[in-house]
Amino acid sequence: MSDALDPGAGAAAEWTSFGVSELVSAAAGSQRVLDAGCGSGRLTVMLARAGAKVTGIDTSNERLGQARRRAVGAGVGLRLVEADLNVSLPFADASFDAVTSRLALMAAEDPVATLCELRRVLGPEGRLATVIWASLKENPWFAEPREAIAAVLGDSRASFARAFGRLGGPDEAAAVHRAAGLRAVEACVLRERVAAADAAQHWQRLARENGHFRRVAADLSDEEDAAVVDEIATRLVGYQEKGCLLLPRAIVLVSAHR
Ligand SMILES: C[S@@+](CC[C@H](N)C(=O)[O-])C[C@H]1O[C@@H](n2cnc3c(N)ncnc32)[C@H](O)[C@@H]1O
Repeated sequence: MSDALDPGAGAAAEWTSFGVSELVSAAAGSQRVLDAGCGSGRLTVMLARAGAKVTGIDTSNERLGQARRRAVGAGVGLRLVEADLNVSLPFADASFDAVTSRLALMAAEDPVATLCELRRVLGPEGRLATVIWASLKENPWFAEPREAIAAVLGDSRASFARAFGRLGGPDEAAAVHRAAGLRAVEACVLRERVAAADAAQHWQRLARENGHFRRVAADLSDEEDAAVVDEIATRLVGYQEKGCLLLPRAIVLVSAHR
């Protein structure tokens, strides 16, 4: 459990790093690491700080810019490349000793094809480790606020992050990796609970830390915002403990070899 003991602002940093240390450990000792779907570089920078020569790829130039600034702030170098996980990657066979991917594989059009391509760029005995969100049922911290938006504002406003929970549990995730020809595939579920003083604080943190919720929150009138918070509070009432909300989250961690 990362930040369950501190529902205050100090918990926000932990809130966004679920699975990072496990992926850094999985790639430990690898010289050349590819971080696939690197986003703003949260994991990518940690891999570089651990001593690897890291390449991050993403389709979003905006995210790559954020990663570049994060690397400068951390005093590490990154190679950042605009590339799409749905097509051939712009790297030769066996270019990397390890591949990591955090919270991006579930968005791939064909996850097996994407994993085949990630396997291709791995050297012999190269390691691959991925993290995806587990099912929505195991992630009420995300699922209930999205349902609240649907209930208050209509389904169309809640039609974001549809890939969340796709690939589901460890068996399904492991099968996708095996289908791509990866060996020694192991999958497990990691769980934690995030804390919030109340529904309003959880909503504020979602709107600050998560682009999907931020875009919805930005367009709301005060009345709509209050109605969403009320709906979230109703839905999360069963998660009250020790005077605050403790909200379960779960990811699936898969590790494998080429
Ligand atoms: C939830 S974010 C995770 C970012 C980062 N891995 C992290 O741990 O903070 C998912 C990222 O995957 C990227 N992404 C989605 N589809 C992609 C694709 N087809 N090819 C490359 N990147 C993709 C998005 O642009 C986004 O930056």
